[in-house]
Amino acid sequence: VSRVYKLALVGFGNVGRSLVGLLERKRKELRDQHGVEFRITGVASRRIGWLADPEGVAFCHHDGALAPEGSAVLDLRSWLRATRANLLFEASSLNFETGQPAIDHIRAALEHGAHAISANKGPVVHAYRELTELAAHKCRKFLFESSVMDGIPIFSMFRETLPAIELRGFTGILNSTTNVILAEMENGRSFEEAIKKAQELGVAETDPSADIDGWDAAVKVSALVTVLMGIELPPQEVERQGIRHVTGEMVRQARTGGSPYKLLCRARRDRERIEASVAPERVPLTSPLAHVSGTSSIISFETDIFPALTITEENPGVEATAYGMLTDFISAVKSEGQS
Ligand SMILES: NC(=O)c1ccc[n+]([C@@H]2O[C@H](COP(=O)([O-])OP(=O)(O)OC[C@H]3O[C@@H](n4cnc5c(N)ncnc54)[C@H](OP(=O)(O)O)[C@@H]3O)[C@@H](O)[C@H]2O)c1
Repeated sequence: VSRVYKLALVGFGNVGRSLVGLLERKRKELRDQHGVEFRITGVASRRIGWLADPEGVAFCHHDGALAPEGSAVLDLRSWLRATRANLLFEASSLNFETGQPAIDHIRAALEHGAHAISANKGPVVHAYRELTELAAHKCRKFLFESSVMDGIPIFSMFRETLPAIELRGFTGILNSTTNVILAEMENGRSFEEAIKKAQELGVAETDPSADIDGWDAAVKVSALVTVLMGIELPPQEVERQGIRHVTGEMVRQARTGGSPYKLLCRARRDRERIEASVAPERVPLTSPLAHVSGTSSIISFETDIFPALTITEENPGVEATAYGMLTDFISAVKSEGQS
C-alpha cells in the first residue's frame, strides 16, 4: 500500500526547480519500487512568499521557467500547518556565516513533525548536533546528502555501509569554480579573464568571491569534519587561503613542471585535534587529484581499513543535487518503518 507524502519546498532556484522536475520524472519508480506517492503542497522563497495548497500546488511555465501558482500565507509556521507537510526540502541560498534562516526553517519543520532534507550546507555546519537531536526526539530525520559533492552518497556511505570504521582524514577538490579558473589560467588566460570565462560557462556566480577566497570549500570541509569525524568545526576555523594571489605564470609553470595547482581541501585528525585547511597546492601528476578538472570533484578518505577510498564525480548537473535530495527522501521514509 502506498503512502502519500506531502512535500514542502523552501528555495525555488536551480535546485528547487530541478527537484520538482526529477520527482515528477521518478514518480512511477517511487510508487512501484518504494510504495511512495507524493504531492507538493508548499513552495516558498522571498519572492514567492509562503505558498501552500494541501491538495497540491499547481505549476505553470513562466518565461520558460517552472513557477508555482496559488495563494500564500504569512509566515513559516502557518505555512507548515497549511501545507500539512510530512517532509521539508530546504534549498535556499547558503549563508555561510550563520546558516540562517535555513536553520529556522528546518527546526520549525522538525517541530511540526516533518522530516527535513537540506541541500543547504548552512544548517549542517552551524546546527548539525541540535537539528539531529531534535529530529531523533521527534522520530524524524534530518538529512543533507546533497550538501557536499551534490548527490554522490558520501554521508549515507559512512552512515549505512561503513560501520565502526575510523575516518582519519581526507583530501579533496570540492569547489568547481576555482577548478575551472585554474584550468583556464593554464590555457593562457589571466586571473580576471579566467573568472569571466567561468561566469560565461555558468559555473561562477556574478560575485565569485566566496569561491575564489575558499569559503565554499571551507564550508564543505567543515560539514565533512563535523558529521563524519564527530568534531564540530565551524567554517571560520578551517585554515583558509583562496586563489587570488595565484598568477597565470605560476599556474603555467607548475603545469609544465608536472605538478599543477589545485585548490585542495584537507582534514586530518591528530588525537582529539583536527587540522583542516583549504589552500592552493601543487599536486604531482601521479596523484588522481591532478587529473580532476572543470566542474568535476574528487575526495579521498583515509580510514583505518581502507588507506585511500577515493570517489570522483565527473561533471555533475544540477539534477545530481536534486537526486541526493530524492535519495534522502526515500531514506527518511524507510526509517519510519524502523522506528
Ligand atoms: N546548484 C547546485 O548544484 C548546488 C549543489 C549543492 C548544494 N547547493 C545548495 O542548494 C541551495 C540552493 O542552490 P541553488 O543553486 O538552487 O540556488 P539559487 O538558484 O540561487 O536559488 C536559491 C533559492 O533560495 C531562495 N532564497 C534565498 N534566500 C532565501 C530566504 N532567506 N528565504 C527563503 N528563500 C530564500 C531564492 O529565492 P528568493 O530570492 O525569492 O528568496 C531562490 O529561490 C544552496 O544552499 C546551495 O548552496 C546547490
